[in-house]
Amino acid sequence: MAKSTKNLVPRFFNKTALSYDKIVNRTTFGKDKYWKKEILKKIPQSQSILDLACGTGILTRQISKKFPNAKIVGVDMTESYLKIAKKKLALYQNISFVKQDAEKLDLNYKFDCITSSYLPKYCKPEILIKSCLCHLRPGGIIILHDFIYPKNKTVRKLWNLYFEVLKILGFFIPSWKDVFIELPKLLRSTKWLEEYQNVMKKYGLKVECQTLTSETSAILTGSNVV
Ligand SMILES: C[S@@+](CC[C@H](N)C(=O)[O-])C[C@H]1O[C@@H](n2cnc3c(N)ncnc32)[C@H](O)[C@@H]1O
Repeated sequence: MAKSTKNLVPRFFNKTALSYDKIVNRTTFGKDKYWKKEILKKIPQSQSILDLACGTGILTRQISKKFPNAKIVGVDMTESYLKIAKKKLALYQNISFVKQDAEKLDLNYKFDCITSSYLPKYCKPEILIKSCLCHLRPGGIIILHDFIYPKNKTVRKLWNLYFEVLKILGFFIPSWKDVFIELPKLLRSTKWLEEYQNVMKKYGLKVECQTLTSETSAILTGSNVV
């Protein structure tokens, strides 16, 4: 079974909520916005959407704008992130937020679509997919997005150099120091893309994968075909 990296979640996220939106935009050179647009494109017409590990609600807000009449639920296990999401999106009547562990979801509801950005690498594929399947309607779709370690040698060199620079930056932004040191190690070791594909196929989902920005991130979709 895949190794759990869940112990990193409190280390990465307990002290970073306030600066998260700025940091994710700047450290990805704005690519986070593009990646989220690509996630949005994959969401079919839906009446209900669950955004797992919604964090401060960046993707949740965009989903709500695209599907103003849908029921949207954002789930996260970090209180400080949820607090910001609730405050930022207080005017969005169709969104509710719940504090839960994505691997132990208990929402008593089945959604047309389940999205998640930057969650897969922290979870065990078998457990997360089972948890999603219990909350997915027949014909529904699971959309998972996360960083990947690029395969191309030149891109890898640049990627490694970039994280060396981020490590130095970590000395000036102490709340992010752990993330800038540990994240590249995690991304070099995670096999999330292959592992989730295998689990999705095992549970009969139709799988599609799109890599983005010189294979530095990927979106994996699993459709529950009826
Ligand atoms: C990098 S943030 C991403 C937030 C948001 N999805 C985005 O794209 O901006 C990762 C989030 O995953 C959450 N998280 C990690 N593991 C989780 C789990 N098992 N259940 C719920 N939330 C989890 C963390 O609390 C954190 O808020």
